[in-house]
Amino acid sequence: MSASKPSVQRVLTGIKPSGTPHLGNYAGAIRPAIAASRQAEVESFYFLADYHALISTTDPLRVQRSTLEIAATWLAAGLDTSHVWFYRQSDIPEIPELTWLLSCVAGKGLLNRAHAYKAAVDKNTAEGVDPDAGVNMGLYMYPVLMAADILMFKAHTVPVGRDQIQHIEMARDIAGSFNHLYGEHFVLPEAAIDASVATLPGLDGRKMSKSYDNTIPLFCSPAELKKVIYSIVTDSKAPGEPKDADGSALFELYQAFSSAEETRAMRTAFEEGIAWGEAKQALSDKIEASVAPMREKYQALIADPAQIEKLLHEGAAKARAIATPFLGELRRAVGLRSLAEVARPAAAAEKTKAALPQFKQYREADGRFHFKLVDAGGGLLLQGEGFASPRDAGTVVSALKQGSAFEVKDATLWLDGAKVATLAEGVDEATLRAALAAFGE
Ligand code: TRP
Repeated sequence: MSASKPSVQRVLTGIKPSGTPHLGNYAGAIRPAIAASRQAEVESFYFLADYHALISTTDPLRVQRSTLEIAATWLAAGLDTSHVWFYRQSDIPEIPELTWLLSCVAGKGLLNRAHAYKAAVDKNTAEGVDPDAGVNMGLYMYPVLMAADILMFKAHTVPVGRDQIQHIEMARDIAGSFNHLYGEHFVLPEAAIDASVATLPGLDGRKMSKSYDNTIPLFCSPAELKKVIYSIVTDSKAPGEPKDADGSALFELYQAFSSAEETRAMRTAFEEGIAWGEAKQALSDKIEASVAPMREKYQALIADPAQIEKLLHEGAAKARAIATPFLGELRRAVGLRSLAEVARPAAAAEKTKAALPQFKQYREADGRFHFKLVDAGGGLLLQGEGFASPRDAGTVVSALKQGSAFEVKDATLWLDGAKVATLAEGVDEATLRAALAAFGE
């Protein structure tokens, strides 16, 4: 598959199904992600992070409903599932398994520093309750599960909001630890923050977010959409009074759904004192024009959940075609292997080792540190002098192993002007040099 070509960039992002999609989700994440997935040389992995949703809600119906709505939104917005990997996290059992492997190399201290966990602890501390009150292990482990999501598919780039950057850094950290211990299995991912994608303001001017309760639902009825847009907070400037486009939530929302030319025209209208009511009507029309075609598809999809379920299953199969063999490789790497398979290479390794000469270091009754060199059969070749410290003995051993020049005179071995060892009886210089040559191979 083309995935192994380094020129192909793998882009991956997860969407937590924890509410009804709003305009901010669409303009800030879904729309740019779909546009990016259409580029050549890009493999896109977009998934519903439903395991993550369990951390913040214990309402099963809400998880199910939100998963349905978010999946339908991506499809209605034009995601081509034959071209991307679109799946549901909980359909990939390899992800929680990888989470465990990563947990075992992730430092507890690293997770102590995660923003979300730290914020919970700070809040508890300020309130004088136990620091971990109300914190579940899901919240604590959130970054490890997220690292598994990313590392499983060797993503290069992870488009996320700023609040998620730390999680990507942690994924890199954890991947680095694993690679260091077990070999280069993981790609180190990078966060991608698209500066051209603005975070949409909500009704009150702050970032549109469920937690501020200031969102504009993506797929409400046209009448409701209009009503919500009319509730956008503005200043009290009268019609005809010039208005400031910069810093106006209304203007920013308009811009997010308009061409550059339309945006310029609206800026002029602001300067010329457009009435707020009129500006709201224009915004309402603009948004309705982009949403209307999607709304129809969305409703058809929501009415046929079995079709979405089928697409997600196909997506899972496609994702698992990568995840299953890769997890197999990782299991082997950490030692979760067939016992029958392991026995053979170990025996072979022992044999090769036994077939080579060996240095042995030890302490004698005189309190000094000695070494000796024995041949493949265990016969003594060289007996070291007594050294004051194991380090001194070790330095000579390394020098001999690395082929440093030495001299042999009357069965005594001289290195850098010092007598360091004596040849065993019946061993000549050529035999010794041949044995030492084995270390250089
Ligand atoms: N934590 C992300 C959020 O709340 C969602 C998420 C889960 C994610 N796994 C991911 C994002 C992997 C990117 C990559 O927005």
